[in-house]
Amino acid sequence: MNNLMRRAQNVQLWRKYCVKQYTTEAASAALSRGKPNYDEFIAGRQVQAQRSIVVQVSSEKSYSELYNYCSRFGSIVGAHHYCVRHDDDLHYILLEYSTAHEAAAAIDSGATNGDLSGVPVRSPFLWFKAAPGKRGPKLAPNNNNNIHHPPPSGLQSVDGTRQLDQEALLSQLRGAESIEQQVQLLHRHTQLNDLGVRMRFLAALQVQQAISGMFPAAQAHPFGSSVNGFGKMGCDLDLILRFDGETGGRKQSNGEPPSRLIYHTKENLSNGRSQTQRHMECFGDMLHLFLPGVCHVRRILQARVPIIKYHHEHLNLEVDLSMSNLSGFYMSELLYMFGEIDPRVRPLTFSIRRWAQACGLTNPSPGRWISNFSLTCLVMYFLQQLRQPILPTIGALVKAAEATDVRVTEDGINCTFGRDLERVGFQSRNTSSLSELLLQFFEFYSQFDFHNRAISLNEGRQLSKPDHSAMYIVNPLEQLLNVSKNVSLEECERVRIEVRNAAWILESEVENSSLPQSERQEETWGLLNLFKHPEKAIIRPNMFFKPRMVEVSDLFEEKHQQLQSTIGPASTGGAVAAAAPSVAYKNVSVRQQVQSIKAATRTELKQLRGSSSATAAPSPSTKNRRSR
Ligand code: GTP
Ligand code: MG
Repeated sequence: MNNLMRRAQNVQLWRKYCVKQYTTEAASAALSRGKPNYDEFIAGRQVQAQRSIVVQVSSEKSYSELYNYCSRFGSIVGAHHYCVRHDDDLHYILLEYSTAHEAAAAIDSGATNGDLSGVPVRSPFLWFKAAPGKRGPKLAPNNNNNIHHPPPSGLQSVDGTRQLDQEALLSQLRGAESIEQQVQLLHRHTQLNDLGVRMRFLAALQVQQAISGMFPAAQAHPFGSSVNGFGKMGCDLDLILRFDGETGGRKQSNGEPPSRLIYHTKENLSNGRSQTQRHMECFGDMLHLFLPGVCHVRRILQARVPIIKYHHEHLNLEVDLSMSNLSGFYMSELLYMFGEIDPRVRPLTFSIRRWAQACGLTNPSPGRWISNFSLTCLVMYFLQQLRQPILPTIGALVKAAEATDVRVTEDGINCTFGRDLERVGFQSRNTSSLSELLLQFFEFYSQFDFHNRAISLNEGRQLSKPDHSAMYIVNPLEQLLNVSKNVSLEECERVRIEVRNAAWILESEVENSSLPQSERQEETWGLLNLFKHPEKAIIRPNMFFKPRMVEVSDLFEEKHQQLQSTIGPASTGGAVAAAAPSVAYKNVSVRQQVQSIKAATRTELKQLRGSSSATAAPSPSTKNRRSR
């Protein structure tokens, strides 16, 4: 009972903390000031999401009509258009109001669509129905004393989530003046943009609001690359859902005595883990059955951190939802801080991640290969151990912690470290350029003794390896664990070989890039040669390991998915996609063969489709018929 009471008191205090933190404008002010700390950044984005709605429209041209219609609920301070590309392009406009109340008024005004069946659910995802009759909707009397002017500055972005296509990106890099500039351009053109972040916080808010009736203190926190500053356009959203909103921080009391009215709650029926799994099963069903936009729900409950994966079709977003293990959330804060400490950290990491992807070291699906997170740890460690370090050790951050920095997760993981960078007082005297750092990174890991040594970001130095894992990176927040435990001997060997190749390529590229542009020997130069997988690979570790077998059905996995997107809404195609997970070929030559067979098959299919669509009438998508 004491436990129950203490828990209830905590919830009360936390709620006050949330109210103070999340509903004031302080957080958004910090966001617009430009250099928010992690808490301010997260809270500012959460407040922004509460002020926003997403409306499906027929095209960006619907904007002025939508603006006029939606202005009746409040003052619109921002609007961003984006497309989700299926068979047809689906168009959406994200509107930001000046307050959360105004956005709530717009959502509350929503009606259910009589033409379609489905459980009516309140959410920020709406559809702008064609006005009855012909032209746009009549303007209703204005209850906000806003005069309906055309939008002051129009849409802030059109097709705002479109990624620069590969050819355009390569041509930008080709035209750069130096490798340094190539690294910067790659970062600028591929990093997750403002709209991408807004959309991810809206996805989080949707989950939170869906359960807020029963769990008013629940919080869905984005973490991982969506918020740590290392995310690229189209990256997945990692989300952690806390029923009681607690993130293990210190609670602030406003001096009032705790309430004497205590919620009755259900006792936990079984051990913590299976209880979490049961809850997640139940949430998985709820998301699947009721939340608009959520499709392809998959439950991965046996993993160390159980997750529910789903796709959000209105946001074109992959989401991994967990309910336990807050250390990932705090790990994102550490990476966020590292990115803020020095402006070279993020561009450098982007180039290294891109290189690793290009040579097949990383892969979006988890497996025996190095993850983006482990690779990022390698970059951070490299920057710590330089003679003139660019990053402080985590130990130094821990030393700078104050009472307000104490964070202990419910499973006892201590995530306390100094959050105030000024107090940490780290100043780097390193003046190396990005191209020098890139080369040094490859050289450093070409020499690194992965066989015997472990990497510690806490101490910023190498340690003896405590076990026989092929690669050992001490988990910064749970120091008994190895972040790269999943990496096989074969994959570790590939890392070593690829960093050596990269060092070799980059060295000659650095020489080449010092020539004036007109004298450079090839059009493809600098980073581009690093991203082009060398045809003449030196030694393939696959010579010593049995390559994976290729199934004929694997070759058509993409065809399945294309088929599914042409059939119609994702909810019908979900089963197909779930049944055909993407196949990762780690053997480069096999992968290349498969890719060329796929490319040839695709071309043939296109030709076939081209000839048949010339005769058949196009079938309009249900969604486009619905939207204006
Ligand atoms: P991409 O999704 O590949 O863009 O990168 P990501 O950084 O989001 O990686 P991922 O989705 O695999 O993991 C999400 C976040 O969880 C990471 O950014 C880390 O903050 C955290 N994380 C992942 N693995 C570990 C781990 O082994 N230990 C800890 N403490 N945190 C982890
Ligand atoms: Mg992620």
